[in-house]
Amino acid sequence: MKISVVGTGYVGLVTGACFADAGHDVLCIDNDPKKIKMLHNGFMPIYEPGLDAIVERNVKLGRLKFSTCIKEGTEFAPVIFIAVGTPPGVGGEANMTYVEQVGRQVAENMTEYRLLVEKSTVPAQTSEYLKRTVLKYLRADTDFDVASNPEFLREGTAIEDATHPDRIVVGVDSDRAADLLEEIYRPILEKGGGAFLRMSVTSAELAKHASNSFLAMKISYINAVARICELAGADVEQVAKGMGLDPRIGPRFLNAGVGYGGSCFPKDVDAFVRLADALGCEFTLLKEVQNINKSQREYVMKKIKQELWVVQDKKVAIFGLAFKPETDDVREAPSLYFVPKLQEMKAKLTAWDPVAESKFKEIHPDLDCVQDLYECAKDADLLLILTEWSEVKNMDLQKLKNVMASPVIVDGRNIFHPEEIRSLGFTYHSVGRN
Ligand code: UDX
Ligand code: UDX
Repeated sequence: MKISVVGTGYVGLVTGACFADAGHDVLCIDNDPKKIKMLHNGFMPIYEPGLDAIVERNVKLGRLKFSTCIKEGTEFAPVIFIAVGTPPGVGGEANMTYVEQVGRQVAENMTEYRLLVEKSTVPAQTSEYLKRTVLKYLRADTDFDVASNPEFLREGTAIEDATHPDRIVVGVDSDRAADLLEEIYRPILEKGGGAFLRMSVTSAELAKHASNSFLAMKISYINAVARICELAGADVEQVAKGMGLDPRIGPRFLNAGVGYGGSCFPKDVDAFVRLADALGCEFTLLKEVQNINKSQREYVMKKIKQELWVVQDKKVAIFGLAFKPETDDVREAPSLYFVPKLQEMKAKLTAWDPVAESKFKEIHPDLDCVQDLYECAKDADLLLILTEWSEVKNMDLQKLKNVMASPVIVDGRNIFHPEEIRSLGFTYHSVGRN
């Protein structure tokens, strides 16, 4: 099948590349000429493990092409996936400007039936606005459909998630739209398994909010439990294990730490809270999820302050700038809280992240970054760990101790075993295990 994907970011590029790899003819469009130029020259605009090989293979096979022209995308394929950004707007609600623009441009260029598919995370009921937009700007006398097909791609493992999905959620109003989407996903479902779930458009939009909010709730829950563990003298990892083996609970997303970040959880929870408010049904549970997540960073900051006593002029090394390992994405990353706070307190900062340095520096160009862990920790009074990159987990701890001015670690990701690391002479603070 022919498919157009508008937006070649973390979601659009992975989606387009995986559709091409499944055998479809894909045109990926982005209005940022720099990104399209990079892709034409064989460079990836984002870091996602395994993506470059898939893109290269499918470009060579002629199944994956790139363009900046939305008119070309509209003419190219009957199905157009919308994967442009929906960043937080002024009041915090998702900014739908880009989605609207794409809807308008597709409508203006549409001469025959087209199916517009919301791939970006959008607030429930967006499809109604999108339909209205298309109707307003449509020039030809033609049918169209709007469908919702939310992404469940975790950055860092997005290729695996796209090719071996648990489920494909498809919200449609017509059989024609359902058939087109089923046809697109058939090769992926045949190879990778998973369920194809057809439902109403609004249900599909809500399924996305409800899934991500539930996972965020699991994280806030375990973070709240972690604080109680510290006070009661328990170990949150043991507690999580005791909970997670119950299949009704499950072991995943029960890692306590500095709280969740990224381009999805914070925004999705917020969007769900706002939607509920707008519908007159206050979702207080999710408001508390947000409160816990916010205060979790402050909770870890308190540990840093207590340990350093005077923060001014102390050297703090930070490992991890992205919101999680295996990605260069810094949106809503914990580092965006800790770096400015510690700078305000006049700490001297040096940071390490294998792939997120340049994205972070677009926001904080003044941060000193180095590409070697031990160089970063050299002469540090405290090491703050905000990532689970394997390089950090597998560090030579003796070497680390030798280079630090004072061997103190505040571990916001609970990656070391407290007794083991203390036995090496470190002062070690983690979350829920002291
Ligand atoms: C996606 C979803 O869109 C977002 O709603 C979800 O919450 C997170 O995942 P993502 O792919 O991560 O966003 O965003 P980003 O990497 O910023 O990619 C969006 C792309 O769309 C960018 O490359 C941008 O240049 C492009 N874009 C934006 C367009 O092509 N046209 C526009 O009008 C606006
Ligand atoms: C998420 C969804 O999981 C995915 O299905 C899709 O909808 C996009 O959004 P992503 O944001 O890439 O994926 O990362 P995810 O692995 O879900 O982690 C989100 C955040 O939660 C990260 O900051 C991570 O560090 C944190 N987290 C995760 C925890 O703090 N504890 C956990 O146990 C799991």
